[in-house]
Amino acid sequence: MTGTPILKWGLGLSAAVAGVVALAVVRFQQPLGPLLRPDFLAEEHGQGPQTYCYQGVRTHDADRPVAQCFTVEDGKFTRVFPWDDASLTVRSGLVIPGLWDGHGHLLQYGEFLHSVDLFGASSFDEVRSRLRDYIRTHPDAGTRQEWIRGVGWDQNIYGRMPTAADIEEDEVLRGKFFMLDRIDVHCNWVSQAVLDLLPGEVPDVPGGEVVRKPGMGVFCDNAMDMIVNMFPKPDNERKRSFVATAMSKLNEVGLVGMHDAGASPETLRLYADMAHTDDWTVRVYSMLECPQRNTFCPTDAANVTQESDMFTVKSVKLFADGALGSWGSAMLEPYSDRPDTSGSLLVNASTLTELAKSWASFGYQVNIHAIGDLANRLAVDALEEALRTVCPGQEDLSECQARRRFRIEHSQIIHEDDQKRIHAIGIIPSIQPTHATSDMAYAELRLGPERTRREAYRMRSLLEVNPILGSDFPVEPPNPFQGIYAAVTRKSPHTGYGAGGSTDGWHTDEALDLDDALLGFTRGPAFGAFMEGKAGLIKEGAFADWVVLDEPLEDLVDLEHLRDFPVRETWVAGRRVYERPSDSDSEVDL
Ligand SMILES: *[C@@H]1O[C@H](CO)[C@@H](O)[C@H](O)[C@H]1NC(C)=O
Ligand SMILES: *[C@@H]1O[C@H](CO)[C@@H](O)[C@H](O)[C@H]1NC(C)=O
Ligand SMILES: [Zn+2]
Repeated sequence: MTGTPILKWGLGLSAAVAGVVALAVVRFQQPLGPLLRPDFLAEEHGQGPQTYCYQGVRTHDADRPVAQCFTVEDGKFTRVFPWDDASLTVRSGLVIPGLWDGHGHLLQYGEFLHSVDLFGASSFDEVRSRLRDYIRTHPDAGTRQEWIRGVGWDQNIYGRMPTAADIEEDEVLRGKFFMLDRIDVHCNWVSQAVLDLLPGEVPDVPGGEVVRKPGMGVFCDNAMDMIVNMFPKPDNERKRSFVATAMSKLNEVGLVGMHDAGASPETLRLYADMAHTDDWTVRVYSMLECPQRNTFCPTDAANVTQESDMFTVKSVKLFADGALGSWGSAMLEPYSDRPDTSGSLLVNASTLTELAKSWASFGYQVNIHAIGDLANRLAVDALEEALRTVCPGQEDLSECQARRRFRIEHSQIIHEDDQKRIHAIGIIPSIQPTHATSDMAYAELRLGPERTRREAYRMRSLLEVNPILGSDFPVEPPNPFQGIYAAVTRKSPHTGYGAGGSTDGWHTDEALDLDDALLGFTRGPAFGAFMEGKAGLIKEGAFADWVVLDEPLEDLVDLEHLRDFPVRETWVAGRRVYERPSDSDSEVDL
């Protein structure tokens, strides 16, 4: 399903035409300067058809890969065409289809934006200092009713697991309620006040870990439940503000849509209420997560199932294992740096298969979180069985899969045999390029060189099966250009370096080229959400979603520029939802 030729930007205006464009611009610029920076409401709200021309439009439509102009009506593109009429003003900027993040967490991202950012903190002292800063600006936070949240700590950096005592030793922090997520959100670090809510003797939890050394305070995977169950949930009003904040931040980096990788029925009802409002500026394709993780909850599903242009629920998220960083992902062989363990499954094989079959029969797309090679094997087993169940007697499961589009979320470490099965069936891998470049610091330690080389963080070798790219925000920043950078260079967009500070990318044989990376943030998510032909491209009948850039992506002389790539404007359904402030560009420079 790949292979559509993507041509270069539509900059090929001939010199003669370019002269006319320049004239046309000059003509309109004097009395009607604002035409280049449209601020009037009629345009924003799309009363009647509106036509926009830019220096170049990259469409991702094989029939017309480049254009300069399009017409929008009722939130859809109604015409895409070359600039052929000198009376049409050409706006400065280059257009690409609106970008999608194929795996993120909307509400959690909003919550993250309202909490303490611990990413990159280099020591416990720095963590404490950031927590103190938060308390300075939020003096009422940290009570039994409103815990202070944070995310981004990483014991790999500090050299040991954190403890409640590490918080307690600071007198500003002492006694307050903290719940801080590990960088991969698979562990919680809590303060003594939270520990005091637990029963005296904290039991071990199957599929999880209560970390007891060097002291109490960290709870991983299934063990997080006992903390999360005590956490005072934010009310709906607060959640709405989380979502609105998240959406405007997503628009800033060129995102027009996202796949929300696991939301409770309650959250989905909140989304459904918000989806009609002006605050809802990102298209959301949500995966249902049952109130009890890894169960079959058809009544809840029936209550939240829906499909509209702005919000869709018709898929479920299941979880096979935890994360690599905390040795939680389920491996076929023990970890190279901890031979005593091979991680743990969150469900056993038979339960996972039964769940996949039940959800498939219910009519849902089945999306399984799988990181380790054992988890990925069981995910393929489960999805294969589910396909057999819904397409009985069908020899070639790939036909069935082309309709049902089951996915593996993360698809990080996959045994070669299972990579073959994924190709044969066409199971869709949902991949986060920045996970590869953030994990490269320790992945090889966990996996050893051989497993890393054969199994880990595939991208190029999965190109044929419609990979969906995303960021897993708030685990990583949502900026899709950073994801593209990571996919193309296999270097960290945060540092600009490969593993261990190398100037070479990490296992670049799995790097994507720029076109394929961009398709991973457009066509991939569209197909994975049953929206091909509607999302991720600029074509008659498609959603009128686009992003205006200052410069063409593929003429980038320096890929480093992608790490901080400027977005000028983002449009969703023909409405401008983001405009870079104090943008003084108003001249066309052809
Ligand atoms: C879904 O459940 C909510 C709350 O339980 C209820 O108010 C609502 O009417 C239900 N909606 C449908 C479509 O069943
Ligand atoms: C799998 O887990 C389920 C639910 O916990 C349990 O009932 C079942 O016996 C387990 N099956 C196997 C084969 O261990
Ligand atoms: Zn996720």
